[in-house]
Amino acid sequence: MKEKLFTKFAELFGDAENTGFYFSPGRVNLIGEHTDYNGGHVFPCALTIGTYGAARKRSDRLVHFYSMNLENFGVVEASLDDLTNQAAYGWANYPLGVVWAFAQKDHTLDTGFDLVIWGNIPNGSGLSSSASLEVLTGVILCDLYQFSDLSSIDLALIGQYSENQFNGCNCGIMDQFAVANGKKDHAIFLDTATLHYEYAPVVLSDSKIVITNSKVKHSLVDSAYNDRRQECTDALSLLKTVTDIQTLGDLSIEAFEACQHVLSDPVLKKRAKHAVAENQRTIEAVAALKANDIVRFGELMNQSHLSLRDDYEVSCEEIDILVDLAWNTPGVVGSRITGGGFGGCTVSIVKNEAVENFISTIGEAYQKKVGHKADFYTVEIGDGARKM
Ligand code: GLA
Repeated sequence: MKEKLFTKFAELFGDAENTGFYFSPGRVNLIGEHTDYNGGHVFPCALTIGTYGAARKRSDRLVHFYSMNLENFGVVEASLDDLTNQAAYGWANYPLGVVWAFAQKDHTLDTGFDLVIWGNIPNGSGLSSSASLEVLTGVILCDLYQFSDLSSIDLALIGQYSENQFNGCNCGIMDQFAVANGKKDHAIFLDTATLHYEYAPVVLSDSKIVITNSKVKHSLVDSAYNDRRQECTDALSLLKTVTDIQTLGDLSIEAFEACQHVLSDPVLKKRAKHAVAENQRTIEAVAALKANDIVRFGELMNQSHLSLRDDYEVSCEEIDILVDLAWNTPGVVGSRITGGGFGGCTVSIVKNEAVENFISTIGEAYQKKVGHKADFYTVEIGDGARKM
């Protein structure tokens, strides 16, 4: 990969002397969905697929971005003196947003840089290609400009800040946090209220994590996502009138049941119920995993899907078809939608000996029902973003 990137870099920018080589992963969330902006827990892990970058400082004030995945954009050029989101920049608004966010946080670049990237995270699949690119840019800036005071948590926060403020998606912290702090063969049990986290080993000796890409992405994803956030905020303010809490993640299921009467709007009640129950499921799931109770972990994944489908309403027909097929396939420990929703991927835990049949049976049935193929990836859990 390094050679491919460096050859392109030299072709575009003269040579590849003194150029750094970097990698930033994608992520999959095992459980704890739509809890990260509700002060709840999440349980994602970094993948071994991700985004590679070759970068070098320039001596003028220009920044150049080139993607080997989206070559039709050519070299996107911007200036440090005009850090604004421009539709014509396309994908390059993500790295540019990080440069802007660094400046907002008092880490201003004195000169520009050249960056060439290539990635193998399927675009728009819900495996965080944008967070991967944001954190990659953060790691590169820290290395090129010697910002040694920034931790990997800072880089996650800066990535999220750039996505919220520069690219207009009001996402939580989960994706950037997982990408920045991933650890091989471990998932990250993160409390999003405090950013306290611990690594939990995911050693599934007799099973594999299989991601299935529905290859659908329904429009309005961002607006539907922002609507869900707003509904949770509205539910929280009503609940606060009868109970002393800061976030929905502060409520146990019993405490929620005791005060849910203030939510007269059934939609708000369903949204809050999901946020509360999903947080409790995530806590229980991590305990089950630690106790080696993979069967319980799988049951909780299945319950998570039902809650996301029926109460949070972020699933869609194609994803429900994939999950139903998985539930009816032998050797499946658990299966659910993963990520923001409205398309994208499912995550399933499948017994080793059942993986081949899982892929062929579900692949065939899905194509028959939906009219196009799904993609399957048997994934490994990898390390977080870094200089190679
Ligand atoms: C997207 C967001 C995350 C999180 C998930 C849902 O991936 O970027 O912050 O909210 O959706 O769990």
